[in-house]
Order: sequence, then structure tokens, then C-alpha cells
Amino acid sequence: MEDTQIIILDYGSQYTQLLSRRVREIGVFSEVISFTTTAIDLKKYKNLKGIILSGGPSSVYAQDAYTIDKEIFNLNIPILGVCYGMQLMAEINGGKVELADNQEFGKATLFIDKTSDKLFKNISDKKQVWMSHADHLIKMPEGFEQIAHSDASIAAISNDAKKMYGIQFHAEVTHTQEGTQMIENFVYDICEAKKDWSMNIFIDHKVKEIKEVVKKEEVILGLSGGVDSSVAAALISKAIGKQLTCIFVDTGLLRKDEAKKVMDAYSKLFDMNIKLVDASDQFYKALENVKDPEDKRKIIGKQFVDVFNEQAKLMKNAKFLAQGTIYPDVIESSSKNHSSKMIKSHHNVGGLPDNLNFELLEPLRTLFKDEVREVGKQLGLDEKIINRHPFPGPGLGIRIINEVTKEKADILREVDDIFISKLFKYDLYNKVSQAFATILPVKTVGVMGDNRTYDYVVALRSVNTIDFMTANASHLPWELLEEVTNEIINKVSGVNRVVYDITSKPPGTIEWE
Ligand code: XMP
Repeated sequence: MEDTQIIILDYGSQYTQLLSRRVREIGVFSEVISFTTTAIDLKKYKNLKGIILSGGPSSVYAQDAYTIDKEIFNLNIPILGVCYGMQLMAEINGGKVELADNQEFGKATLFIDKTSDKLFKNISDKKQVWMSHADHLIKMPEGFEQIAHSDASIAAISNDAKKMYGIQFHAEVTHTQEGTQMIENFVYDICEAKKDWSMNIFIDHKVKEIKEVVKKEEVILGLSGGVDSSVAAALISKAIGKQLTCIFVDTGLLRKDEAKKVMDAYSKLFDMNIKLVDASDQFYKALENVKDPEDKRKIIGKQFVDVFNEQAKLMKNAKFLAQGTIYPDVIESSSKNHSSKMIKSHHNVGGLPDNLNFELLEPLRTLFKDEVREVGKQLGLDEKIINRHPFPGPGLGIRIINEVTKEKADILREVDDIFISKLFKYDLYNKVSQAFATILPVKTVGVMGDNRTYDYVVALRSVNTIDFMTANASHLPWELLEEVTNEIINKVSGVNRVVYDITSKPPGTIEWE
């Protein structure tokens, strides 16, 4: 984007995205790009004011260590190296890094040696910082001085003349006190970046851009009812109104009344065409006798694509396909490590095949989830849509363990609805990250009145997580669990036992399949 002022070169740290978010939170547009980017590539960014080298899991002295185009140090653009980024900058500029005897993981105290350094403006001494490193710097690079230390290591270095700075700790995590102030000092005082990033500015900018790109053509969008595709639809409809047609596919694997709720909410809120396609019979048929989770995902994905393809063909003039792709999807797919194992083949209803003859329109591809929510809010989307828990592309298809049938989907819809309503009643829906029910392929014996029952077991799951990569089961009140269980057993015929899943991720995943 032509607005990029701060670039973050990604060396694979789990905190890389946080760096970018912190910079945006203080009002400056930043982008994460690969460490393989060269100085020549960087020169193409006309507004570039500063570069941050992220942390990373390897050692700078390892044979295959991720490195940097040395010419980047001659661009005369301020650089901040964080953790691995600092060690890399040091090593390349004549310093030395070694495996430390005293490794620091977690909280440490920062002692500032040079209080006048620009990086430490308005930072008080003896602050708590967050460390996560096995290696440490043992020899200063040429032209640098030590500006802070911890009990175990050199904690910060600078070369004011060359505007190069390094911190061993992670200023981007909230455990580092005044970390945001340090990032502000770098971005505003050292890089002299200009404040230019807010969601209002983004909306104005995007609306103009969408109008220019789409002109008089038509756009088609697969609406899932989730946050990302909803916000994308709202933004595009603000720009081009009825030139946008949204397709909402009822797969038969949606939650209770979902199709109706989505249709009501959208047709009232926005000036766009929205079409509901009931393809549930087709989905159930394709899933007959299929038990394997991966097979189910593939079949559901293919059915969705078939339905969407048919609808797209009916729209003769549509030139653009809009998708709710967001920034973490972009970063993830560009930095995917080929050696990492595939756990589940996630598919998103937005993830359509390449062989559709459309140009892609992805207006949210530079935004983080919280920014997407903010855009939604500003565009007047209902809070209920904005704050919805994630719902997987394959829907209830992966919450009905083993074979999917309409009978089980109907049972699960009722169970899920009772559980979610109860979370609202207890004011907990927005305090947990994701909650849902799963129906198991086992029947157990129970007793109701004087009669024996032999019915299905359902499992409730509620998790708290920041990034959905790791998660803990929510500590739901016992009272709520009892109330939900009683209501399910009394009201939903076909279920006589309810269990609560307290497995964390890892080792469990959030969904059961
Ligand atoms: P897991 O089960 O892998 O899920 O711990 C992590 C998050 O991703 C959601 N999920 C999916 N989302 N398509 C999606 O769009 C999928 O196929 C899919 N599978 C899981 C899951 O609900 C959780 O939020």
C-alpha cells in the first residue's frame, strides 16, 4: 500500500503481528513482509519512514539462519531490531552473539544506562520487560553503545548517528511496561512518521478505491454471516450499492434460524441485492455415509463451490468476486512453513477456487480482526454480527461426529441455541471466545419419568483464547451448566446426556473434527 510508513521484516516470531498492530494502534500504517525483501524492493515504498526487524526462533549464528540484505543498513532509514532482529543487526555490524548461560524467558527488570537516548524518552528506569531469548549479545557492534541492561544481558543498544536501535526484550507485548511508549518514540521521534491511520480514514479511502476499480461493473460476494464477509459486504455496498449481489447459501449445516436472521439483518441494513440459496438437500445427499472428517470437509467445500458456481453463472455481468480475506490470512499464507504439519484442512466459505472467471476484490486484506470489527461498527453493522463467535466454514458438518444427517443437524441446532442463549442470559457470550455444541455418534441409557431412554450424547465446549492457536476451556459457572443441561434434556428429544469438554488446545483442537 502506498501509505506504508513502517515495514516489519518477519523473522518468524510469534509476536510479529503484534508489532504491526502496536504501530497501527498509535496511528501509523505498518505492514509485515518477508525477511527476504531486498533494499531495492524497499525503495519502492515511497512513504517508508522506518523498518523493524522482528524476533525469530533461530540463532543468528546457525548455518541456515534467516538473514538480511546488508544494503538495507545503507538506506538511511531508521531501523529497530527486536530480539533476534537486534542480534542479527549486531552480528552483521561487527558484534557477536552466543548461546547464553543465563537464558531469560519471561519477566525481567530493565536498567536504563543512557536515559537521554531517544528510544527511552519518557521511560522510567527499572521497568519490567518481557524477555524470550536463549542467545545473548557478548560484543557490541561497531558504532553502537549499550543503552540498557538486565541482570543477565545487554538489553538495548543504539547507534544514534545511523539511527539504528536494538532491544533484546519484546516491547510489543503487554507484559513490557511502557512498551507502547518505546514504540511511539521509535515511530514518531526517531522515524518522524506522521499520524495517518484510523478506521475512518480507511473507510473513506477504500470506498473511493472500490468505486474507481469497479466502475459500472457488478460484484458478487459469498456471505457467510460471519464478521469478515459481513464487513466486506457493508463496505462494498457503501461504495457501489446495488452493483453488489451477496449470495448466502443455506447448506443445511447452519445454526438455528441463521438463514432467516442473516437475510433480515442484511436486507434491512444495506442497499444491496442479497439472495438466499437453499442447497441443504444437496449437501445432506453428498454427505450420506461419509464419516471421515477430512472427507467431509472436502465434500462440503466442493458442494459450496458448485452452488456458488451455478449462481455466479446466472449473474452474467459480474466481473468481480469479493472476499472477506483479512490480514492474518494474508500473512499466514505467505509465511506458511512447508515443514509444519497439516492438522485440519480449514476451508472458508470465502475460499473459492481460482477457476472462477473473476477479478478478486478483497477490501479488508490489510486489516486485523479488531480493525475489521471497528470498520463494521463505523458502518453501522449490528453489534451482534460484529461480536459473533467464529463459525467454521463447514458449519455443523464438523460438529456432527461421523455421519451427517438432517435429523442430527436438527437436534444440534436446538442444543446449540439453548447453550448460546444461556450464555447471553448470564452475560458471558462476549466474555468467552467461542462456544458451541457437538453431537456424538453414541447413544447411552437414561431414565425419564419411569421410562428407559436410549439417546444421543452432546458435548458442550466453550473456550477462551486470544488467537485461536492455543485455548483454554472457559470456567463456566456450574449453575449455568446445570441449567443448560436440564433444558437440553427436557426440551430436545433425542438427547439424554450432556457433557462439558474441558480439554485445552493443545492437545485438543477447538472443534472436535
Ligand atoms: P481448531 O478446531 O483447528 O479451530 O482448533 C481453530 C478455529 O478455526 C475454526 N475452524 C474453521 N474455520 N473453516 C473455517 O473457516 C474451517 O474449516 C475451520 N475449522 C475450524 C474453529 O471454529 C476455531 O475458531
